Amino acid sequence: NRSPEGIETLMETVGEQLEDGQLPVSVLHNEAVYEAERRRIFGQNWVFIGHETEIPEPGDYRQRYIGTDPFIFVRDEDGDVQVLFNSCRHRGSKVCRSEKGNSSHFRCPYHGWTYTTSGELVGVPQQRNAYQHLDTDEHGLHEAPRVESYHGLVFAALDPDVPSLEAYLGDATWYLDMYVKFIDMEVIGDPHRWEVETDWKTPAENFAGDNYHIPMGHKSAIDAGIGSDTATGEKQSDLYAIADASGHSFSLYQIESDDPNFWGHPPEVVDGFHPERLSEDQYEVARKSGVTLGTIFPNLSFIHLGGTNAPEKESVGTFVLRQWQPKGPGQMEVWNWILAPENASEEYKERVYESGMGTFSASGNFEVDDIAIWNGITEAAGSVFAEQQAATTNFTMGRFGDAAPERVPDWPGPGETYVHGGLTDENQLTFYRSWYDAMQEEPR
Ligand code: FES
Ligand code: FE
Repeated sequence: NRSPEGIETLMETVGEQLEDGQLPVSVLHNEAVYEAERRRIFGQNWVFIGHETEIPEPGDYRQRYIGTDPFIFVRDEDGDVQVLFNSCRHRGSKVCRSEKGNSSHFRCPYHGWTYTTSGELVGVPQQRNAYQHLDTDEHGLHEAPRVESYHGLVFAALDPDVPSLEAYLGDATWYLDMYVKFIDMEVIGDPHRWEVETDWKTPAENFAGDNYHIPMGHKSAIDAGIGSDTATGEKQSDLYAIADASGHSFSLYQIESDDPNFWGHPPEVVDGFHPERLSEDQYEVARKSGVTLGTIFPNLSFIHLGGTNAPEKESVGTFVLRQWQPKGPGQMEVWNWILAPENASEEYKERVYESGMGTFSASGNFEVDDIAIWNGITEAAGSVFAEQQAATTNFTMGRFGDAAPERVPDWPGPGETYVHGGLTDENQLTFYRSWYDAMQEEPR
């Protein structure tokens, strides 16, 4: 199954096995699958690029990727967000080499062709002698075919025919609104990045709904008093898992109490939020929210929790965005953004940053637990034995034979919502079904 020809057979098996809640573990470490994903998943879906607050001023730029394709995320002189292909129209060199900065132009390091922040070619060295015939209007940097923003979250797509971003997010907007519309979020510092020997799907699936791993996988962090009192049972909370047909999934811890919770943000910070932008139902869910996490298909996940980096320090509402960037079969790079409410004090933002670093960063207490486990999955997934024996992983939790997991009867939001959300695999199956469906789409 490692050859490109083998993928059809492997994917047929995947289709059959998913119906029974199984998945061949080989898809988590397989060259042909990886190559197909670059085109069918990352080439044909909306992919997260960055947050608008990362490039507030004209000329601010960041290097970003759609799958493995290099782009420049830049605010042009008119204040518009652009996502430009980072490759010179002369010989293809990357024109933007630094991770971030502010510039009025991008000058190619190879022969010096120069582009504006909206991609127009405005300088060709020795043009009169060398390139008199060149139509510079036709040689601007290529733009990502589609770029749209949802309350500060900028996505781009390589496929010009994808539906609108809002349609793609679908019912997920009902949930996303609580984090990015209710609250004006701001990125604090730079995204941290680190490479890991793990397939991008493993963490995407984990954040889609693997709440089952917390008591075991994160026992040491929980015992040390790091992280959230809602996830660790100090406050009584119910966990609902919400699987959306469009492939996005969320897990919401809801705390029944007269005291508002709002992911651990204190009242003076909550005062600056915008209840008028939410429906009453959304507001009520936000009010009761302890930890919330989820995955926007394909590779953007987030967690919003009352966290701390040390047990003696007060916990603060910590919002972390993470992107699982494919880097090769069984390889990814984690990108991790820490966000805080724009209206909060500088001191509070600093605490959010510390808390984000202490929980979900390269050295975060929760992060290192997960990474060690995910590396192990990847090693086994790439084995000859797993391929020969068609070894599978199990996604039947909460089904008890043919019975569907119990639904929440009066949940106010969209999607399928499950009681005992930590003890079903429905979110994870939703992720893999979407992945499977996308893998069936021929590259356009
Ligand atoms: Fe960019 Fe030649 S490759 S100027
Ligand atoms: Fe984890």
